[in-house]
Formats: sequence, structure tokens, C-alpha cells
Amino acid sequence: MTVKAFRGELLSVAHDPASHSEAVSHQPDGLLVIEDGIIVARGPYAELAPRVPAVAVERLAGLIVPGFVDAHVHYPQTDRIASHGEQLLDWLERHIFPAEQAFADRAHADEVAAVFLNELLRNGTTSALVFPTVHPQSVDALFSAALERNLRIVSGKVLMDLGPEGLRDTPQSARADSEALIRAWHGRGRLGYAVTPRFALTSSDAQLQVAGDLLAAHPEVLMHTHLAENTREVAEVAARFPAAADYLDAYDRFGLVSARSVFAHGIHLPDRSCRRLRGSGAGIAVCPSSNFFLGSGCFDFTQAEAHGVRIGLGSDIGAGTTFSLLHTCGLAYQAGLAKGYRLDPFRALWLATAGSAALLHIADRVGALAVGQEADFVELDQHATPLLARRTAHLEGAANDLAERLFALQVLGDDRAIARTYVMGHCAWDRDSNRFSPAGSLT
Ligand code: GUN
Ligand code: ZN
Repeated sequence: MTVKAFRGELLSVAHDPASHSEAVSHQPDGLLVIEDGIIVARGPYAELAPRVPAVAVERLAGLIVPGFVDAHVHYPQTDRIASHGEQLLDWLERHIFPAEQAFADRAHADEVAAVFLNELLRNGTTSALVFPTVHPQSVDALFSAALERNLRIVSGKVLMDLGPEGLRDTPQSARADSEALIRAWHGRGRLGYAVTPRFALTSSDAQLQVAGDLLAAHPEVLMHTHLAENTREVAEVAARFPAAADYLDAYDRFGLVSARSVFAHGIHLPDRSCRRLRGSGAGIAVCPSSNFFLGSGCFDFTQAEAHGVRIGLGSDIGAGTTFSLLHTCGLAYQAGLAKGYRLDPFRALWLATAGSAALLHIADRVGALAVGQEADFVELDQHATPLLARRTAHLEGAANDLAERLFALQVLGDDRAIARTYVMGHCAWDRDSNRFSPAGSLT
């Protein structure tokens, strides 16, 4: 058995602070004890230290928070971030579909998967729900690379039989390939599978039915797709599905709306969709950097909160412009304020950790630095840049400074503020020595 102990300032938000008064857990001088990658004790250092068996305690100078959980991201779009000039549908045609065609080549997929997962680690992200491409080998590449790094990754072959030439599958191949990938990967190491129709416009009715059949046959996997991101997209969906009550209903008719469904965006939602999301327990991955970049609009936090819609936070690389969920918290604040909603920094941290983990059905494993959970955590450095150091300098030691320090980190911070990323108690990324150190999975 390997025992490790870390001393430092500990912060986590296990529940939505909008509805739980005791959601925030903070120990200014805390101790985290880890056995074989699992947290076995957490508390104030002075109380806990005398009860911990003799083990060297590593001191961490920064603010220790749970590893971030990216609830929506596309790994094949890593090299297409910052592609200029179009909104969603034209951006897909011009920049994204050509890039995704290259993932028919396994070697290319392997290379990008490694870059992508390292970029997650550099940004403190230790779990993610990931779009690959239509090619089964793109899924194999991602899962193999995730297994090497022992990351918690949920993914699944993209279904898109109405996609462009070179990126099209069929209902039959979608069913057979998904079945084989579920058998090969779901539950291996820290990996999980998600049935992944790209969006309503790129799958035939027959293929959406295949997705529904797969979910009915495999109740343990997730469903992952896009929903109501862009006004032109919404209009095209309404034209294609005239009998559907709204965009969400187009999915619902094929059995794609349940508590295991994660929908990216949800910018343009009628109240009926919100009621159905609440009723089904399905959730929205809010992706503000993507929404700003593609001019899609701003997520309506007030509407979602009024209806009790479950939400998490996603980068949506490569419409998203940053891998940093820390920075995405700051952008979520800006998106909220554009519609009159003041996102609290603790709620933003919850969104990026336990909130997203709940959407991915991994909240029992990660997201809250809680006893019994896997020890994925990040050391945030509030001195990472001269500006951040200056902005937070006068706050140190001040009463009630925590919310302000956290907010400054979210607005001014990014990958530079991630001093170290720990995966199951193992330091997988060390900024100061510029080194990755994959632990590898035990399974
Ligand atoms: N809708 C369908 N495909 C995509 C995609 O790749 N990115 C985004 N942002 N929206 C989509
Ligand atoms: Zn997306």
C-alpha cells in the first residue's frame, strides 16, 4: 500500500451553492491523506496530523482544488482552435469537417490524442467527456492514451450518417462499431463510454433510432450530443423535424433524453425544453468560450436555475478557445452577466468540478476532494503572473478574502496558474520543471 499526505490550503465545492448552504469545504491549513490513489482522510492539519500514521507530508504552497472535469470537448479539434470568420454551420463545413477527416489515420489520431491529453493535464483537467470523430480508430487512440495517463475519460464514436463525404457512417456500421467499442473500453481503467450522435442534423432518423437502441441495451453508458447552440441550427432542426415540439423533442422521440444524457450548449431553449430536461434529469454542458467565439449567444443561467436544470462546464475545444476550465469559470461569469446573472465564484468552481462530475455520473469518484474519492487535484498558484500576484497580494490573510482570490484566479488565471496536476495522488504535471509524468493505469 502506498500512503501519501499533502498539507496546504484545501478548497472544494461538493454541491451547488445555489441550493446547498453547506456546499463549500475550506481548510486554510489542511491535510489530505491518500492510500493507493484514494483519499482516506481530509481535515484541518492540526486536528488530523496527530492521527495520521508516520508518513512524510508534502507541503503545497498553492490553493488545492479538485481536478477539473470538462463536460464537453472535442479532441480532434485541438489543431483547429482559432479558425476565423464563421458561425457554427459554416465553421463546421469550412474548418472542422476537413480536420476530422484526417482521423481515419490511426497514427494521426494517436499523435493528436497525446497532445490533447497533455494539454488537459497542463490545464488541471483530470476528467472529461470527449467527442472523437466518426472513425472507431479515433476512439481507440483516445482511450489508449488516456489509459497510459490514468485519466478519467468518457467518449464514444461519433454517429453521423448524414455527414459530409469522408465523414459518414451508416446506421448499421454505427451500431456494430459502437457495440464493439463498448465491449472493448467501457469500465476499463477509469474509462467510460458515451453514445455520441454529433447533432440532430447529421444523423438520419434510422441512425437516431440506433442511438436509442444502444442506450436501451446499455443503460450504463452516457448519451452525448449538441443542443440548441445557434439560431440557424435551431431553425434547420425545426424544418427537419416538423412534428417535434422543440429541438430537445427531436432527440426525445428516439429515446435520447434521460438522466444519463449530456447536451452541450442549450443557448436557445424554450421553457418546455427546460421542464423536460428537469423532468428527465438530463443536463447541459455550458461552454462560454465557444459561445463567445462562434457568436452563438450566452447561456441563460437564470432560466436554467428557475427550472432546476442540471448544469456543468465545458471547454468545447475547438470552438472553445481555452483548455483552461479555471479561465472558463471567468468567462461563464461574463456570459452570465450579459443576461443579468451574477455567477458566484464558488458556484463556478462547483460547475467546473463536482457539477460536471455529476453530469458525467462520476461524482461518487471525483470532483469534491472527499474521503473515498480518487485523489485527482490541482495546485493553483495565485502568484502565477505579475498581474495576478498584484491583484491578490493585498488579499492574503484578510478575512473573507477567499471568494475574491478565487474570482481573480478565474478571471486572470489559465494554464499558467496550474502549478501541479495530481492524478490519483501522483504528480502527473509539474509546471516548474515543465514535466509530464504519466502514472499509467493499474488495469
Ligand atoms: N454541433 C455539431 N458539431 C459541432 C461541433 O463540432 N462543435 C460545436 N461547437 N457544435 C457542434
Ligand atoms: Zn461541441
